[in-house]
Amino acid sequence: MQLKNFKRESIIPLPVTFISTVSKDGVGNVAPYSCLMPVLRPFDLVCVATAGVMRDTFDNIKSQGEFVVNLPGTEMADKVIPTAKFMPPEVNEFELAKLEEKPSHKLKTPSIKGCYAWMECKLHKIVEEKYQNFPYALVLGKVVHLEIRDDVYNPEDGSWDVEKAKPLMMTESDTGMHFCTVKDIDWFEPYGAMFDDGKDPLGKMYEEEG
Ligand SMILES: Cc1cc2nc3c(=O)[nH]c(=O)nc-3n(C[C@H](O)[C@H](O)[C@H](O)COP(=O)(O)O)c2cc1C
Repeated sequence: MQLKNFKRESIIPLPVTFISTVSKDGVGNVAPYSCLMPVLRPFDLVCVATAGVMRDTFDNIKSQGEFVVNLPGTEMADKVIPTAKFMPPEVNEFELAKLEEKPSHKLKTPSIKGCYAWMECKLHKIVEEKYQNFPYALVLGKVVHLEIRDDVYNPEDGSWDVEKAKPLMMTESDTGMHFCTVKDIDWFEPYGAMFDDGKDPLGKMYEEEG
């Protein structure tokens, strides 16, 4: 089956994250973002694609220079629509969606309680342009504090329990979003397997915990 080219995102399983920000007037904001990726291993950068208009998140990141990527489990699926609806910037979306604030470690922007992991980010760079006359931007954040719930993390090898965390994800169809999660298929390959000498050139970076 050949698909229309713009449907490319519907055949990629996407993470559902909640980005929290604060406006220049101090109002807390939360929005779901799925167009998000880490920029290479082992950088500490994440890239978020955002519409350039109608996004308080984008305005807040530009004015405050920081944001938190909160990673929810499937039990927070009911928070997606309340935070995705268009709201004027004066509305506090933590309160609107009944989300509890969790103080961040390195930022004044609060994180969201009840998620399984959090990336506190300082704005690194914005690439802003128009595509087919529509303004959009790639926002690069530098992770300044990274945290995961203790009960889902294995400090022995840095693996985490997806069956326990149940990361909220989605696939898309022509009419909407189908929420799903991840299943471990019990197949492991070490990074070193990609190299002739069997050694991961970045291995040293992982030797010290934290
Ligand atoms: C699951 C989901 C994922 C979304 N991902 C993105 C995204 O990656 N980029 C984007 O610009 N908008 C995305 N949106 C739309 C925004 O969340 C929505 O426009 C929201 O109202 C923006 O809120 P804000 O004005 O508080 O920033 C997504 C919406 C949903 C429901």
